[in-house]
Amino acid sequence: MNFAGAHILSVDQFERADIERIFSVADAMEPYALRQKVTRVLEGAILGNMFFEPSTRTRVSFGCAFNLLGGEVRETTGFKSSAIAKGESLHDTARVLSGYSDVICMRHPDSGSVGEFAVASRVPVINGGDGANEHPSQALLDLYTIQKEVKDKGGSLDGLRIAMIGDLKFGRTVHSLSRLLRLYKNLHVVLVSPEELAMPEKYVELLREAGHTVEISSDLPGSIKHVDIVYSTRIQEERFNSKEEADLYRGKFRLNQAIYTKYCEPNTVIMHPLPRDSRSEANELDNDLNQNPKLAIFRQADNGVLVRMALFAMILDVVDLVDRFSKPVNWYHARREPKIDL
Ligand code: NCD
Repeated sequence: MNFAGAHILSVDQFERADIERIFSVADAMEPYALRQKVTRVLEGAILGNMFFEPSTRTRVSFGCAFNLLGGEVRETTGFKSSAIAKGESLHDTARVLSGYSDVICMRHPDSGSVGEFAVASRVPVINGGDGANEHPSQALLDLYTIQKEVKDKGGSLDGLRIAMIGDLKFGRTVHSLSRLLRLYKNLHVVLVSPEELAMPEKYVELLREAGHTVEISSDLPGSIKHVDIVYSTRIQEERFNSKEEADLYRGKFRLNQAIYTKYCEPNTVIMHPLPRDSRSEANELDNDLNQNPKLAIFRQADNGVLVRMALFAMILDVVDLVDRFSKPVNWYHARREPKIDL
């Protein structure tokens, strides 16, 4: 696809070559994300970051990615601080805000809303999550992480075995990831959820049509035995009619170190789009996994910056200029990796 000026609304836009291109640009962003160099390539550009649902990683990493390329960020969070609370339509909001920005990232609780917004926007729009529908940049960073984490298998995504666990009905990250997996070959996908929160049939069909084997299960230990990736998710409480209804499913599939040691193959990578729900009644990924070197959740979150920098550089068509506008950092950047007791 031609990225310059494009909206990024769905992973369906990508072919395999597009993904490879995004990942190679993301790799090239590493010295900037690690503060070994700075670039001012987007000096003067403005990102409009509009988040109408709670967000930490997606909102901040989109903002940091833009800042790291030298651009500025203007942000709206929540409906209350936006004129949508006064009855303004998405069309009018898009028409106005796109006059102030070079690119817009948007998260909204309704499926299809970001696409509707994009139609009225005069600048590219990136979908930061529209209801239970899609979260394309998350699927890209998930796939980028998988590729890095399975390097010992040659880094190939073909033949991958992955278990997706939790709220597969409302989780937009697993919806986008499933759609993206159609581009790869011979995958074994295990879908683990309570029956009521099963992966919608259309995504199961997509996976099967791509030639993958799909297993549907509600048995956690049996499902995680022979997979390369365990991808856990949170119960999407905000999409249920009530907290009580969400409570019925919370804590059903918990992974901790003892279960991991007993059932998983030694190299199984543990992922989660985050936030993990660490309240005792949920606790889908126990804190005792924090010492497990195969817990990739924070590397996954870090990768979000690289992938989002790549998207901005490609959409704003500056990939070849990033290094030309670079210089050494002036400050001492004291980032250290936390120690792991093995
Ligand atoms: C996810 C989301 O918002 O869909 N979070 C994220 O963007 N990393 C997953 C979630 O909220 O459970």
